[in-house]
Amino acid sequence: MATSLGFHSLSDERATSLAVDGSLPAWLTGSLIRNGPGSFSIADGQAVDHWFDGLAMCYRFTFDPGNRAGTAVDGADDAVHYRNRFLDTDAYADAQAGTFDGGFATGESTLRERLAGLFTEPYDNTNIIVERVADQYRALTESPRATVVDPNTLTVADDVQYDGPEPSGQLVCAHLKRDPATGTLFTVETEFGRTSTYHIHALLGDGDRRHVGSVETDAPAYMHSFALTPHYVVLTEFPLRVNPLSFFKPGRQGPFIEQFEWQPDRGTRVAVVDRTSGELVAEPRTEALFGFHHVNAFERDGGTEVVFDLETIPDATAIDDLSLETLRQGNLDAVAGRLERFIVDLGGVTGSDRYGPGEATVRREMRYDEGTALPTVSPARWCRPHQYVYAMSMDQPTTEWATGVLKYDTETGAVAEFSSGGDYFGEPIFVPRGGGPEDAGVVLTVALDIDAERSRLVVIDGESFDERARVELPHAAPFDFHGRYFPEVQARAET
Ligand SMILES: [Fe+2]
Repeated sequence: MATSLGFHSLSDERATSLAVDGSLPAWLTGSLIRNGPGSFSIADGQAVDHWFDGLAMCYRFTFDPGNRAGTAVDGADDAVHYRNRFLDTDAYADAQAGTFDGGFATGESTLRERLAGLFTEPYDNTNIIVERVADQYRALTESPRATVVDPNTLTVADDVQYDGPEPSGQLVCAHLKRDPATGTLFTVETEFGRTSTYHIHALLGDGDRRHVGSVETDAPAYMHSFALTPHYVVLTEFPLRVNPLSFFKPGRQGPFIEQFEWQPDRGTRVAVVDRTSGELVAEPRTEALFGFHHVNAFERDGGTEVVFDLETIPDATAIDDLSLETLRQGNLDAVAGRLERFIVDLGGVTGSDRYGPGEATVRREMRYDEGTALPTVSPARWCRPHQYVYAMSMDQPTTEWATGVLKYDTETGAVAEFSSGGDYFGEPIFVPRGGGPEDAGVVLTVALDIDAERSRLVVIDGESFDERARVELPHAAPFDFHGRYFPEVQARAET
């Protein structure tokens, strides 16, 4: 099946300047850095089993309108300087040596060994995203260990793990959330114990962090992301739960993720935590649901309502099926979701007053149920009301990867879809032009041309949603996870 090309192993590492077919906007002078599983092969003919365990590969696309760096690019006016590289982590070295036993879900080691690993030496196969934390570019995964990456060369400079006095955990939300108004980054970690705890921190500029608050739970949930508004951190505690004590029972073996059990009777708790005081101000419940990605969140009605958009996965039990074998066969139901809006009524009281049980409520609104994956909004709208959501267009249920990118208007329900030939698309990243309407800017996405067995970067105009430029890559890149656009990572003329 054609989709399987997106799950192949790429061994090719390149640093090259590429011609742009079309034109880049003059203001697009930064870099898109993407991250994902680049290879599933390990030494001695072995391979990882789970998509999330592929070895971290980063891809940098540096935009150079007018080719100010002066690199030869076949006469094109504009250039994109491309670099892809495996992150040279301990996990990568282990894979070369044939000793890699996975991090997330691969391997036959006992769960006890796996948990011991989480407590003593977290894995560093940081293949999910690259985020800027102060002056560092950190590749992240779901362990508390991050890899510091040079944004130009994609070489590994260091690895970081917090070891200060603030509480910390063993499992980390892969996605940080940033408030663009203050620049503050928030992170959520789960500390396993007899009573387990979700710890919320604000990351400070000097690599340190400030403990915001903690929320206790009797059975930790698998949470890949959370929501952030100007005043609140919102945890959606899905009923995909683990009993931490089960880690220590003898005889239980298997992938880490498979130890989380779908317990729909628990429903879903929405924990709203004050960003300043750390107080749990509301914890309404709704029915059982699951999702990986919170799209965006904001407050309205004078701060009495917290609104967040979440991509829900209709069949939560399908996340057991993210093995490479399953995905390569085209069973992609765990990847595709739908856009839902959740409205938390805080009970009509603002501030840090504690609400009594049952005063706060949450209601759900289905917004787009025709299939999405990896939804995003303009970073200029983070923590603020947004009109547009961008996502891969992926049928649900589906046996095929995303054949389009969509732009969903949350105000009118209108949908614009971009597609080209039979290309398969990755996560769309919106880059705002600065000023003008919310959709003034471009959408960057990497497409996989199945027929040509090559990938290309596609630049889509945000307003018209028409193609504006494309750049052919020298190889077929496997499907990756997430990217960020960094305006400050720019092309430099050779001297
Ligand atoms: Fe993610």
